[in-house]
Amino acid sequence: MNAFPAVDPIPLPAPVWLFKLLHIVTLALHFCAVELLLGGLLVATCLCFFGALRGGAPLLRLNTALSLSRRLPIVMTYVINLGVPPLLFAQVLYGRALYTSSVLIGVYWISVIFLLMACYWLLYRFNAAIERGLSAWWLGLSAWLLAGGIAMILSTTMTLMIRPEVWQAMYSASAMGNHLPPHDPTLMPRWLFMLTGGLVFAGLWMVWLAGRKQIEMPVRSYLAGLGGKLALVAMVAQVLVAHFVFHNQPDKVRESLVASPLYLGAGFAWFGAAGLILLAGAWAGFKKPTTAAVGWLCVLLGVLAAFGLTVFRDGIRDLTLLSNGYDVWHRAVVTNWPVVGLFLVLFVIGLATVGWLVSVMVRAKPVSEKVI
Ligand code: HEM
Repeated sequence: MNAFPAVDPIPLPAPVWLFKLLHIVTLALHFCAVELLLGGLLVATCLCFFGALRGGAPLLRLNTALSLSRRLPIVMTYVINLGVPPLLFAQVLYGRALYTSSVLIGVYWISVIFLLMACYWLLYRFNAAIERGLSAWWLGLSAWLLAGGIAMILSTTMTLMIRPEVWQAMYSASAMGNHLPPHDPTLMPRWLFMLTGGLVFAGLWMVWLAGRKQIEMPVRSYLAGLGGKLALVAMVAQVLVAHFVFHNQPDKVRESLVASPLYLGAGFAWFGAAGLILLAGAWAGFKKPTTAAVGWLCVLLGVLAAFGLTVFRDGIRDLTLLSNGYDVWHRAVVTNWPVVGLFLVLFVIGLATVGWLVSVMVRAKPVSEKVI
């Protein structure tokens, strides 16, 4: 029996490839922001925690935590705003699977909104405390637990949507949306992959921050050294988790992934970026560079890794769904070109505006960043 609900009789208003392209671009950017949030928050929390302990250089650690914490609320705006477009594109492409999975765990799915608001509030509280010279690691930890919980709910929904074989039993057990899916061996590695990736991104971000002139020199040097080492160690951990992500997939999915030049290429792109991040991390950890150019190189490597992982992850979903009888490319399409044209113009203007906003932020007159 086909578990997928009946297809919407309204045809797609644009070609599938266009939706997929837009989906992948916006989702890769969402992942960049998510990784910065998950990793940056954990690092700032640890720095506060260890800064509060006796010994070492507590003020240096607190100032380093501040360079991250004061940017986290801004990162959160990008997490949210770059999460909405892929959600819309995913609903258009995979609505029959995604709506089913989100309804089946509806209570958890809807709780994301409230968890998100609490997390956002805690980010401000955490930073405000650090600015006053307080450690407040418990505020950072609470915010991180909420963010990690949100990531877990999203991973659960995205894995449940490709498991139509469990939907019927879940719905029969309860239609309230309060039951979690049965064990799925791919879920934990998938979630851990995002968490370890967060630490990689945090490391790269710290090397980038080391190039910012408004931060005091001892803090910049500390950022570069610690960031480089963190990127190196976390990258090794993420490669290990990637092994489990891949090997826990069903045989058929693994074989199809390797047989596809697109997904194989994306996998190699991710591995290539991972290798370069290992080298850059080792070098930065040892040399502690404080130049903007090195920081931008790290940004480039992070973005390359994010695109590689997004395309490969897309392959896992499409091929798993295909093996269950859902072909994302098999849809009735009646393209409304004037609307598509208008959308693309507005999309490019939107991206250019965000780029301009980021550039204004980067070029803004530096304000000295240190705790009171
Ligand atoms: C603290 C906030 C957030 C965190 C930590 C977070 C984290 C994540 C993670 C880890 C995934 C990957 C799940 C997986 O496949 O294993 C993901 C996917 C996704 N997130 Fe977020 N997210 C956050 C907020 C949001 C928001 C506010 C939105 C939308 C309004 C959003 C939209 C999405 C979408 C649409 C996907 C998957 C898209 C797809 O598979 O096609 N996220 N997010």
